[in-house]
Amino acid sequence: MSGPKHVIDLSGKVALITGGSRGLGREIALGMAAAGADIIVASRKLDSCEAVCSEIEALGRQALPVAVNISHWDQCDALIEAAYARFGRVDILVNNAGKSPLYDTLTSVDERLYDVVLDLNLKAPFRLSAVIGERMKAEGGGAILNISSRAAIRPQAHLVTYAAAKAGLNAMTEAMADALGPEVRVNCIMPGPFLTDVSKAWDMEKFQQRADEQIALQRGGQPDEVVAAALYLCSDHAGYTTAAILRIDGGCR
Ligand SMILES: NC(=O)c1ccc[n+]([C@@H]2O[C@H](COP(=O)([O-])OP(=O)(O)OC[C@H]3O[C@@H](n4cnc5c(N)ncnc54)[C@H](OP(=O)(O)O)[C@@H]3O)[C@@H](O)[C@H]2O)c1
Repeated sequence: MSGPKHVIDLSGKVALITGGSRGLGREIALGMAAAGADIIVASRKLDSCEAVCSEIEALGRQALPVAVNISHWDQCDALIEAAYARFGRVDILVNNAGKSPLYDTLTSVDERLYDVVLDLNLKAPFRLSAVIGERMKAEGGGAILNISSRAAIRPQAHLVTYAAAKAGLNAMTEAMADALGPEVRVNCIMPGPFLTDVSKAWDMEKFQQRADEQIALQRGGQPDEVVAAALYLCSDHAGYTTAAILRIDGGCR
């Protein structure tokens, strides 16, 4: 740790953030860059990654945009190769990309849709954590942060496969912490409703009613309200914190 004792400083670190182009991932990418890290921004759309990378470079950090569909194992490997080719190492991995597609009935979830949800929310974090985590371990240290969901512990009818995948990600957090320790720490943030692009599909009147009744803070989260926790969990200040799953959900019941 450098600088004042309790100020988070990620200078000299390299962070790879999946889904870094929008929403929570973009906020975490910019927050880590502002704290001094160089950033790899990965998502399917190159132009969105490039736009965030320009913002990161304006902060004086280096940034690498990578267009990749991490639902495919070989594309995870290509992302890892691109990251190590550019920076020579990865100190922080944030498994943030995820989604919960809508469906009408359980039987309307066909095999393809089932695979889309499990591949993005669970398989990709496994492959990235396995390969990057073992390299971090061999090189003496690193931090992995998984972005799960409140759905993992409060599963609902419209989120069956997503909830199962995110519950798997919670379990994977603890198992990976065990597998990759003591050199590598693995933690998880479990968000509740955040007002990112996904909230554009919500009926906001209904959402507010639900928030008034079921969320202690009576509102959805703003994307930047996840950043300080992400920085903390990925910094040396969290040196004795691993296998932790942190709820950031405004106190959802
Ligand atoms: N917002 C919420 O209310 C909420 C609540 C609980 C949990 N979460 C979790 O928090 C994380 C971030 O959510 P968010 O609301 O910030 O999402 P978002 O605004 O929809 O952004 C998702 C990001 O993931 C990327 N992405 C999607 N599919 C991808 C793929 N196959 N390969 C690579 N990148 C992909 C997207 O970029 P491209 O489209 O360019 O690929 C985008 O950068 C997710 O894991 C989500 O499940 C969110």
